[in-house]
Amino acid sequence: MTRQLQLIIKPRITTKSSLNPPLEYFAKKMECIYKDPNAPVETRIKDLLSRMTLQEKIGQMTQIERRVATPSAIKDRCIGSVLSGGGSKPFDKANSADWADMIDGFQNAALDSRLGIPIIYGVDAVHGNNNVYGATIFPHNIGLGATRDADLVRRIGEVTALEVRASGAPYAFAPCVAVSRDPRWGRCYESYSEDTEVVRKMTTLVTGLQGQPPEGHPKGYPFLAGRKNVIACAKHFVGDGGTDYGTNEGNTIITYDDLERIHMAPYLDCISQGVCTVMASYSSWNGSKLHSDRFLLTEILKDKLGFKGIVISDWEALDRLYIPPGSNYRHSILSTINAGIDMVMVPFRFELFLEEFLSLVESGEIPMARIDDAVERILRVKFIAGLFEYPLSDRSLLDVVGCKPHRELAREAVRKSLVLLKNGKDQKIPFLPLDKNAKTILVAGTHADDLGYLCGGWTATWEGTSGRITDGTTILDAIKEVVGSKTEVTYELNPSPETFSGQDFSYAVVAIGEAPYVETGGDDPELKIPFNGAELVSVVADRVPTLVILITGRPLVLEPWLLEKIDALVVAWLPGSECQGITDVIFGDYAFHGRLPMTWFKSVDQLPLHIGKQNSYDPLFPFGFGLTCENKGDSN
Ligand code: GLC
Repeated sequence: MTRQLQLIIKPRITTKSSLNPPLEYFAKKMECIYKDPNAPVETRIKDLLSRMTLQEKIGQMTQIERRVATPSAIKDRCIGSVLSGGGSKPFDKANSADWADMIDGFQNAALDSRLGIPIIYGVDAVHGNNNVYGATIFPHNIGLGATRDADLVRRIGEVTALEVRASGAPYAFAPCVAVSRDPRWGRCYESYSEDTEVVRKMTTLVTGLQGQPPEGHPKGYPFLAGRKNVIACAKHFVGDGGTDYGTNEGNTIITYDDLERIHMAPYLDCISQGVCTVMASYSSWNGSKLHSDRFLLTEILKDKLGFKGIVISDWEALDRLYIPPGSNYRHSILSTINAGIDMVMVPFRFELFLEEFLSLVESGEIPMARIDDAVERILRVKFIAGLFEYPLSDRSLLDVVGCKPHRELAREAVRKSLVLLKNGKDQKIPFLPLDKNAKTILVAGTHADDLGYLCGGWTATWEGTSGRITDGTTILDAIKEVVGSKTEVTYELNPSPETFSGQDFSYAVVAIGEAPYVETGGDDPELKIPFNGAELVSVVADRVPTLVILITGRPLVLEPWLLEKIDALVVAWLPGSECQGITDVIFGDYAFHGRLPMTWFKSVDQLPLHIGKQNSYDPLFPFGFGLTCENKGDSN
């Protein structure tokens, strides 16, 4: 039996009264206006805030990781939120039901607290509910940027919300609305594009995740439609994709006008859609750390843009602030809370955090008004999200996780994300589409049959990994499914000249690219194709007609000799679990649709090289480039 039923059936009123228990219960309940779902949200906030102690208020401003989230800590410290860091799961290959059991456990502890304030459980569902085994894995944002399809991204948000809710979580740390200006950045693939207008267009993920606000929804006010939607998080505010050399957590050196025009514009679109939370960036703006920049977090985001949801810190961001000499963790708490951070993703050392935090408020260094503003914002999102009425998971959603319609949507996204950079050694004789009934096909390369590589970072684990990490279809699986019964498919991970002795392959499909990476681990000044991918292609292309499929989170160095040798080149970005979307197009059932979301440089010496760069824009392939080829199918 879920907790809500206990609350209604067993009123816990002990005072004597002539009222019958049910009437007495509702009378008591009405005194607790904050528990009345029919009361206006702002009235519920004020009522609850008036009942909270200082300890409960700062507890609500605290987000802790599941690995340190004991029931007693959640209950006794009135913790506001629990999260799973990237890949932090109940156990390996845990499915949605396992997750829902875990999250409901934390929630019941919160409901046992003095005021019964529910927690928000947050996960990085950044391309589907990617921590959970069996969930649908969508292309990463850079591939979605190549589609230029805002409605597709909205639909992906809707499906992602269902699969996240099925696991019991009401909060996704998405969308990342970074405008990535340099492919050397390890988070380039989390960005939709180098172009602000493309990123702005893709912010429809917010409406997909949270639902469509009604006409006249108040500006800046958070919105959430219902139990099949999740709280979204626009991140990372602001300028995370514009750092010098693409250094992750680095310094964005730019005028305020350019910061607003290039990097801040997508946040206006997210706020206009009622985004509930915004996550601060680790990076700095002209040397000022975003997490302690009151001008940007409060005067701009809250005052000028009117954002009335939660500003949440990033993971251990306060710890990374106090490294400068002369400062310390206490100072980091002071500077970030006073700058406008409302909830701190601590995430482990919450006892120390709460101790220092309490001391700072009691000393008056952090004004009570700042605490009340932060807690009001937190309670606002919790009330709007319906967490007081429906705090626990909805198990009826379990059946939709990884269901065929969801996978078909991911397949459509893969199709539309593919960018065709070369089609035929002689432009008059296109190489694609491939013949499904060819006599013999060689499929080769490190990325042809590795689902982990095809999904990239933020999948199953934080960094991503190799192998059959979840349910899904690799490129090799998809080719075997689609070719004619008389067609022979040979797979060779690492082809050598011996692969070809006595063989007469009609053509080869070679999949190469990047291994998964995440955040600073992905920063790369050289951007060469890993695993000797170029040499591997050479072995094949010297002997048979070859299509290369590049699996990558960003543009990489393409040597002229490589481009010369191959017959066709398709960039599939990080496609996720449904790679039939690739064979749908290379075998001609659907047309190519994708266009480059990032400029494709000739040499890393040119970087940063993006549209809007005034002089010397001399790319290998320009932003927006993408060939099409005559196909029987439509481009959907
Ligand atoms: C990470 C990322 C952020 C993510 C958060 C929680 O370090 O910067 O995008 O949402 O921590 O995992």
